Amino acid sequence: MSAHTVKGVVARGKGQPVELVTIHVPDPGPGEALVQVQACGVCHTDLHYREGGINDDFPFLLGHEAAGVVEAVGEGVTTVAPGDFVVLNWRAVCGNCRACDRGEPWYCFATHNATQKMTLEDGTELSPALGIGAFAEKTLVAAGQCTKVDPSARAAAVGLLGCGVMAGLGAAINTGAVTRGKSVAVIGCGGVGVAAVAGSALAGASPIIAVDIDPKKLEAAQRMGATHTIDSSQVDPVEEIKRICAEVYRGADGADVVVEAVGRPETWKQAFYARDLAGTVVLVGVPTPDMKVPDLPLIDVFGRGGSLKSSWYGDCLPSRDFPMLVDLYRQGRLDLDAFVSEEIGIGDVEAAFEKMHHASDGQSVLRSVVVL
Ligand SMILES: NC(=O)c1ccc[n+]([C@@H]2O[C@H](COP(=O)([O-])OP(=O)(O)OC[C@H]3O[C@@H](n4cnc5c(N)ncnc54)[C@H](O)[C@@H]3O)[C@@H](O)[C@H]2O)c1
Ligand SMILES: [Zn+2]
Ligand SMILES: [Zn+2]
Repeated sequence: MSAHTVKGVVARGKGQPVELVTIHVPDPGPGEALVQVQACGVCHTDLHYREGGINDDFPFLLGHEAAGVVEAVGEGVTTVAPGDFVVLNWRAVCGNCRACDRGEPWYCFATHNATQKMTLEDGTELSPALGIGAFAEKTLVAAGQCTKVDPSARAAAVGLLGCGVMAGLGAAINTGAVTRGKSVAVIGCGGVGVAAVAGSALAGASPIIAVDIDPKKLEAAQRMGATHTIDSSQVDPVEEIKRICAEVYRGADGADVVVEAVGRPETWKQAFYARDLAGTVVLVGVPTPDMKVPDLPLIDVFGRGGSLKSSWYGDCLPSRDFPMLVDLYRQGRLDLDAFVSEEIGIGDVEAAFEKMHHASDGQSVLRSVVVL
């Protein structure tokens, strides 16, 4: 087996700063593809990995929101070929599990990753973040993790479909089934929440109410299609969402769909009470295992009807959703460039993590994107 020697961003231990080191990437075996990474966004989940919040399988090769060009494919691969421009995904569906069998592959629980391991120079096996590991000049993935899209698209922008932007857009459009004629509120307007706003705008929903405690994030949401904004550090967002919806639609008592993109009990509760009767709450923010929703009367769950859903990766099907969204981007209908706050080098990932921590006091970063 021959291997490629490239640079990659590795997290060696809990809370330790990431390091740019030399790694070995094997040639693709059966069902695998070797990808030259062109761009990879810095997602909150990479930071969760570094902090030991996902699991303890250190060392991690971070990065999972990427676009690049296929360099080589292994035996039996027919879906992509060398030279194809692809967005990497973490949902290469198996086609054999219960979810796939019943025609709902976006719920697949047996998704594919590469079988061979990328390693450090001393042979230590790396755990690629979300089975991708794309803060690296080259990465090895399962061929199904490569979704071919229009090669004229900007890698730094369309790579973001690989995680956060797809998660937010899909939370609104796929999970929440937002359409024309629906009212939407989005609580938490980071990269994911703003993508939910953009998805709702694409679907023709109105009003689209953006809620955050950071005025800069509300400005970003407005640029992406929010019709109203609420600074929930200043006013009660539940009352305000109800007031705005009643102004637009006769008899409305909240929004038809409320997307929670923070991942906290108090904001989920706001979402729960801000939705109209028989409305839908979509939880796309990721809570920590210790979080609970206190004092929620069961009669309110029953009495309000509707549905309480969660959304993993925006219930997306990459082969269906990525090419469509790239086309909408190229037509100027989905401004993916607006999510790229800055382009950075592969050695700047740690600095990008710092900006996430201090996002509210400095400039507002939706996404830092490593460009190779
Ligand atoms: N479900 C999935 O598949 C999926 C995928 C990617 C990310 N996520 C999750 O989505 C969430 C958001 O991710 P992100 O990248 O946008 O993060 P982010 O940190 O960029 O954004 C979070 C936003 O929430 C706002 N916020 C914080 N507390 C608030 C409060 N009390 N009320 C209102 N707004 C508040 C912050 O100001 C910020 O704008 C995270 O929990 C992340 O882990 C989920
Ligand atoms: Zn499956
Ligand atoms: Zn991510």
